[in-house]
Amino acid sequence: MSENSVLKVENLTHSYKDKKNKKIVIKDLSFEVDRGEILSIIGKSGCGKSTMLKIVAGFLSPDSGKIIVNGKEHKKPTRNVMYLQQNYEQLFAWRNVVKNISYSIEQLKLGKEETKKRAEYYTHLVELDEYKEAYPNTLSGGQKQRVAFARALAVEPDLILMDEPFAALDASTRDKLQESTKRIIKEKGQTVLFVSHNIKEAQYIGDRMLVFGSDKDGNIKYYFIENPQEQDKEEIKKLL
Ligand SMILES: Nc1ncnc2c1ncn2[C@@H]1O[C@H](COP(=O)(O)OP(=O)(O)O)[C@@H](O)[C@H]1O
Ligand SMILES: [Mg+2]
Repeated sequence: MSENSVLKVENLTHSYKDKKNKKIVIKDLSFEVDRGEILSIIGKSGCGKSTMLKIVAGFLSPDSGKIIVNGKEHKKPTRNVMYLQQNYEQLFAWRNVVKNISYSIEQLKLGKEETKKRAEYYTHLVELDEYKEAYPNTLSGGQKQRVAFARALAVEPDLILMDEPFAALDASTRDKLQESTKRIIKEKGQTVLFVSHNIKEAQYIGDRMLVFGSDKDGNIKYYFIENPQEQDKEEIKKLL
C-alpha cells in the first residue's frame, strides 16, 4: 500500500440474487486512491457504480474482497467515510442551512463554539452565507446539493463518496457546481470518489478515471485512465 493511499479496494466481488439467478455486478475489482486525489467513476446505468460506493461506505458487505481506509479494514459505516446519496433530498427539513451543516459537526463533540465556527466556515465555503437561515424547502436543487456537500466536508472525513450528485440539475447549475466542487475539494485536499454517468463531467472532475466497462465479448472489465481531461471522449465511450 503506498504511503499516501487513503483507500485500498482489494479484489472486490459482489453479486445480487433474484429468485433463481445470481448476477455478478462487481468482479475482482482492485484499486487505490491517494490522499487528496479525486477518482471519477464512469459506467453505464446498472453496471454497479452505486453498489461499489455502498460497499466502500460500509452499507453493504461484498461477497468477497476488502475495503481498507487509512490502513484499517472498513466494514461498517463510520464518519471517516461520508456518503452523498444520488438523491440529495437528505437534508433535515426542520433545520435551516447552517443547522443542517452543523448537524454532522455536532456528532464530533467539539463543543458549542467550535461547532458553530466550523458550520459558519463551511456555509461560507459553499457560498451560502446569504441563505444560512433558509430552510431546505425554499432552496433550489443546486443549493441543496451545496448544503449536503458542506455537511459531508465539515466532518473532514478521510473519504467522501459522491454518487451522481449533479444528475438532477439543469445544465448551467451543473456546470457551476462542477467547477466550485472541484475547486473546494482541491482547496481542502479532500479525497473523493465521484460517480457520474456523464463522460465529460467525469473527465473534468477526476484526477484519474475508473471506467466500469466491458471487453469485446461483453464481460466486465475495468479501465483506469490517467489525466482524463486530455483523453478523447469518444475513445472513453468505446470502453463502456
Ligand atoms: N438490492 C438489490 N437487489 C438486487 N439487485 C440489485 C440491487 N441493487 C442493485 N441491483 C442491481 O445491480 C445492478 C447494479 O446496480 P447499481 O449499482 O445501482 O448500478 P449503477 O449505480 O451503476 O447504475 C443493477 O442491475 C441493479 O438492478
Ligand atoms: Mg447508481
